[in-house]
Amino acid sequence: MNEQNRLAMGRTTARPVPAEERLLRWTGRFFYFAALAGLGVFGTYIVLRATGATFRNFEQWHELVAGLSMPTASIWIANLGIGLHFVMGTILVLAWPILLSSKIRARHRAVHRWTGRVYVTAGLLAGIGGMSFILTHGAYLRAASVAFGIWGTVLMLSAVMAYVHARAKRFDLHRAWAIRLFAMVLGSWVFDLEFRAWKDLTGGIGISESETPGVFDYALLYLFFVPNLLVAEFFIRNKHKRIALPRKLKWPMVAAFAAAGLVFAYAILAVSATHSGKYGKHLLQLVAN
Ligand code: HEM
Repeated sequence: MNEQNRLAMGRTTARPVPAEERLLRWTGRFFYFAALAGLGVFGTYIVLRATGATFRNFEQWHELVAGLSMPTASIWIANLGIGLHFVMGTILVLAWPILLSSKIRARHRAVHRWTGRVYVTAGLLAGIGGMSFILTHGAYLRAASVAFGIWGTVLMLSAVMAYVHARAKRFDLHRAWAIRLFAMVLGSWVFDLEFRAWKDLTGGIGISESETPGVFDYALLYLFFVPNLLVAEFFIRNKHKRIALPRKLKWPMVAAFAAAGLVFAYAILAVSATHSGKYGKHLLQLVAN
């Protein structure tokens, strides 16, 4: 059989894609575009809040921004470290679509390579900045310092390994570490989404208003990055496999993804586009003025 016949046969015997598979694909696309929009808003919020365009700058570098005296080296390190981490964090949440684009990877290799170098450096510096704040000042809870320390270590390790494997042309390993890096970057945003979704949907069970943190306050310290890492591992390990779900599991799976998508969309909107939202209250005020 010649090439043309084979192609023609391939066309006529193409299997129609079942409805549940199509729905799963659409849900995947929905997650991608929701993350694109939501992370875009998150990056914009960091830039505008950190440059003083909104009504209140970040508390963590108050001394530096307000020009107050900083008598000790640790205050200097904490302020400069967290400032560096704000700048690098912004790059991390805004530049990822360039790196994930398969078109840019295939057609504009230099763009992918240079964005990759900038991204990896930003990952390392965001981690170093965050760590220097933790070590000299501490996060809002001792438990948060520990969790953010672990998260930052995984993030920095992923950035370094993604770079090392790219240089050595081990592209499967490069891809795996790049996926882990992105999963960790997502954590910085997912933290705010999970907090808001849980607060609204459960009425705030386990969230404490007092000095003593509640069960959910502690759980969130790991929920914002460990599940992302597990999902990333699943993707990495099943890259070339076509996962065939048992028939009776297909529709429940579609329903579970759709429900997760709804909660995700709700959280993004509540955080970004309402006056009570962590980003929304800063951004909407600018739009109204
Ligand atoms: C991945 C990109 C990152 C982004 C976009 C980001 C963004 C932010 C933002 C916006 C805040 C201020 C939160 C607020 O007060 O409302 C913050 C605080 C903080 N971040 Fe990050 N961050 C990133 C990565 C990291 C990493 C890797 C570490 C750890 C090494 C880290 C450690 C911290 C710490 C310790 C604080 C202060 C928390 C506190 O006040 O208790 N961040 N980050």
